[in-house]
Amino acid sequence: YARPSQDARPDRPTISVIAHRGASEDAPEHTLAAYRKAIEDGADALECDVRLTADGHLVCVHDRRVNRTSNGRGPVSALELADLAMLDFGSWKGEGFANEAPDRQHEDPERTSVLTLERLLELVADADRRVELAIETKHPTRWAGQVEERLVELLTRFGHTNPALRTDWTPAVRVMSFSARSLHRVRAAAPCIPGVYLMQFLTPRHRDGRLPPGVGIAGPGIRILRSHPDYVARAHRAGHRVHVWTVNDTADVELCQELGVDAVITNRPKQVRIQLGLG
Ligand code: G3P
Ligand code: CA
Repeated sequence: YARPSQDARPDRPTISVIAHRGASEDAPEHTLAAYRKAIEDGADALECDVRLTADGHLVCVHDRRVNRTSNGRGPVSALELADLAMLDFGSWKGEGFANEAPDRQHEDPERTSVLTLERLLELVADADRRVELAIETKHPTRWAGQVEERLVELLTRFGHTNPALRTDWTPAVRVMSFSARSLHRVRAAAPCIPGVYLMQFLTPRHRDGRLPPGVGIAGPGIRILRSHPDYVARAHRAGHRVHVWTVNDTADVELCQELGVDAVITNRPKQVRIQLGLG
């Protein structure tokens, strides 16, 4: 594979920069503070993972359990929103949990509180510019459709599922998943919401660039592009856009730029925008 030279592609379109779990290099992932920072840093879109609590709320948490990113323990699915609201989701980043000084906890609720998807939708709705949202459904198979059902309900409430209600200011929302079934469920209930099919490995079925039926955007991990750089051209030839995760290193940003990907999902939107000449 020979990389095209910069000069050979003077008309290269702009790459969209998506903040992975917010500006998660600088602020605790999936907190309001991380998303506010991402908007400040000029991110075109915000990525978040959603999980269902025991009492049916969608919250922005990546792991199955809260152990890594909070001072609590146990699976999100076994906890109610009120339980999660008691936890500190911020102090693990940086200074660590202030167990001996409990009064230090929650000193900045935007940095330490669990974030609901509803609150994140409010944040983008109130932003002073258009910011897109890329929502990833986690553990969709466990809940047999409830994650997607609740998601579509919320998106409908915020006016995202009815194209007639959209304005130039309505943030574009897309749903991402490693599960084709999850994307299918969302499409069945809300056909105007684009789907992104996430891939950790390039299976023979998708090597030619094709995606599951009805899915428009490919979401390969950066490792796929390092080992199969021709994948981007194949996906484009098949009519798909390509959104790559998680692109933090300068060499990976460069690779994505050279291959002509449509979006990079990164923990450091500010630095990536600067490298791309957008910041
Ligand atoms: O944006 C896709 C990417 O977030 C998928 O991996 O584990 O970070 O959710 P993960
Ligand atoms: Ca994710």
